[in-house]
Amino acid sequence: MKKRLGPQMVLMVLGMLALLAGLWTGLARLGWTLPPLRLQAYHGPLLVSGFLGTLIGVERAVALGRRWPYAAPLLTGLGALAVLVGLPKPVGPILMTLGSLGLVAIFILIIRIQRALFTAAMGLAALVWLVGNALWLAGRAPYEVVPWWAGFLVLTIAGERLELGRIMRPSAAAQTAFVLATIVLLLAFVLSVVSFDVGVRLLGAGLVFVALWLARYDVARRNIRQQGLPRFMAASLLVGYVWLAVSGIVAIIFGGVISGPHYDAVLHTLFLGFVFSMIFGHAPIVFPALMGRAIVFQQSFYAHLVLLHLSLILRVVGDLSGWAEGRQWGGVLNVIAILLFLANTVRAVLRSSTKT
Ligand code: HEM
Repeated sequence: MKKRLGPQMVLMVLGMLALLAGLWTGLARLGWTLPPLRLQAYHGPLLVSGFLGTLIGVERAVALGRRWPYAAPLLTGLGALAVLVGLPKPVGPILMTLGSLGLVAIFILIIRIQRALFTAAMGLAALVWLVGNALWLAGRAPYEVVPWWAGFLVLTIAGERLELGRIMRPSAAAQTAFVLATIVLLLAFVLSVVSFDVGVRLLGAGLVFVALWLARYDVARRNIRQQGLPRFMAASLLVGYVWLAVSGIVAIIFGGVISGPHYDAVLHTLFLGFVFSMIFGHAPIVFPALMGRAIVFQQSFYAHLVLLHLSLILRVVGDLSGWAEGRQWGGVLNVIAILLFLANTVRAVLRSSTKT
């Protein structure tokens, strides 16, 4: 039976707008001449807070089943809208920061309901996001805030892997390793404020640690031998863990770069290679929970997955070798992979609703 669409739909539309504007500004920052949105400086915030922050907030609000938690994704979504319609400068950042404060409030409630390693990890992620947004609001440059934004997503995803029960009954050793990896990340975030270069290199080490932890304990390694959706999810996760490790290694090598191709490589191996691979892998189970509509797995999902990773290889090879065209075309194909993912997801929803 289909569920009635709730406020999550409106919020998802705001999140989608932020995603599309974020992709557009990303292409402009790669040097493509596009009708100007004059929002290049907001590329990171639109994608991290406007899109992903809103999506994560909606996911939590739906799971809690209460009304007030929807305020968090509403604030980040409206923050993105404020940026898009050109409201005076502090409005968008203030709304996005309030949205991240809202997610912290949500997790205070969640942790009171369920004390567990995964709720603590995701609560910490929300706090890290809030600190990052507060630094940005206080006038810190986006590159200085990037470690915090990255930390928000990495800790959220690691926590979600635990929550989804895909990491079965973690042993004491696994839990200790998880806590240690989290401590390394936290030290790196703080250090990046006082000594950016050292902080970024330590962050790199933390990312490699988390990637190894996920690769070691996630059931994805076993599921890759299955068929259909479990196999697709496992493939998305495993390749995402590889990119997470690559991002960490590139960060260790290049340290505190603040713009240009090396900066691009550190950031997008993580944001596209890891984060978007996780989104692709989780969409077939998270989307139905949010929208109340089933998604039937289609083999065509591999098209967006493969395109994302091949195009990212092209982009990163371009970044690291100084081949500007490879970098630029890789970026265009990254965008096409994400648009293809949206189209394939909508198509799968339509197919499944005609079947019910
Ligand atoms: C899919 C296509 C994308 C393209 C073409 C793109 C392009 C870029 C470029 C060219 C830069 C500046 C690098 C430099 O200084 O040379 C950048 C920075 C950044 N990107 Fe992306 N990006 C994309 C996706 C993403 C995604 C999905 C995220 C986050 C989820 C993201 C987050 C960021 C952040 C946080 C920065 C740093 C912000 C700043 O320094 O202002 N990007 N991006």
